[in-house]
Amino acid sequence: AVVRVIGRDGGTQNLNVAGGGQLMDALRDANTGVQGTCGGMMSCGTCHVYVDPAWADRLPPKSEDEAAMLEAIGELVELRPTSRLSCQIAVDDGIDGLCVEIAPSF
Ligand code: FES
Repeated sequence: AVVRVIGRDGGTQNLNVAGGGQLMDALRDANTGVQGTCGGMMSCGTCHVYVDPAWADRLPPKSEDEAAMLEAIGELVELRPTSRLSCQIAVDDGIDGLCVEIAPSF
């Protein structure tokens, strides 16, 4: 799948991501600034992205744990209605064309 990524510097790139993993891994490996410190355990929040509003309803909804982690980092960083943890976005053909913006670090 190809995912359009808006970086913290405002630059955009189209990322080819292999299916089967989580978006966080692809963002981390592409040096977008996503750290994914906890390895996808929903306990660090460093994989936070803003999903393009056009895509908000096309992704599977947040779990309670994801929502709780986002709420926790909301003290430190701006949350938007489309904030997601990229470690909870599975990469498959269904996300081809997805656009995400890397949220600020904290
Ligand atoms: Fe830590 Fe997503 S990688 S919360």
